[in-house]
Amino acid sequence: TERTIQVIRNRIRAVPDHPGPGVVFRDITPLMEDGPSLHAAVDALAEATKDLDYDRVISAEARGFVFGTALAYRSRKGLVLARKPGKLPREVISVSYELEYGTDSLEIHADSIPPGARVLVADDLLATGGTARAMCELVEKSGGSVAGCAFLIELAFLEGRKRLSDYNVVSLINYSAPSA
Ligand code: PRP
Ligand code: MG
Repeated sequence: TERTIQVIRNRIRAVPDHPGPGVVFRDITPLMEDGPSLHAAVDALAEATKDLDYDRVISAEARGFVFGTALAYRSRKGLVLARKPGKLPREVISVSYELEYGTDSLEIHADSIPPGARVLVADDLLATGGTARAMCELVEKSGGSVAGCAFLIELAFLEGRKRLSDYNVVSLINYSAPSA
C-alpha cells in the first residue's frame, strides 16, 4: 500500500555530499536495521514481482545480495551470485560495465544459469543502470532470459531505465530529483 511505501521511504536516510559534493546518498542501513521495515520492504518487493515467471534470481554483491536472497528464499527459487572479479573459484562468464571513472565487471560461474532459464534481476538500487544491465547481459550470455528487473530504490533522474528498455522494470521507491 501507499502507507507501507511511505514507511519504507521514511527509513531511507538522505546523506548529502556522499560520496562527493552535490551527491545525495540514499542510505538503506536504517531500513535494514528496523525489523518491521525490512520485512515490509521484502514483502513489497515480492508483491511487485509476483506475476513474473522466473526460475532463478540473480543479484550483485554486496547490497544486492540482501534483497536477492530474500526474494529467492521467499519464492523458493535458486540464487545466482554476481561477484566482483576474482572471487569465484571455477570457470566464469564476465561482463564489464562503465562507472563514472573507469570500468568494473561482474562475474558468475559459467554453469550458474542453465540454457532457457528465466531469471529475475534484483538489486537494492537502480542508478545509471550499469550494474543491472551487466547482470542482464550475464543472463543472456549464459543462454537464459531476463524475466524482469526489481529494485527497492530507483534514482529516476539518472535514467537507468533507458539502459534496461528491453526489460520489465519494477521499483518501489522512486526519487525523481537528486535532493528532497
Ligand atoms: C550500488 C547499488 C547498485 C548500484 C547501482 O552498488 O547497490 O548495485 O550501485 O548503480 P548503477 O545503476 O549506476 O550501476 P555499489 O557498486 O555501490 O556497491 P555495493 O552494492 O557493494 O554497496
Ligand atoms: Mg550494489
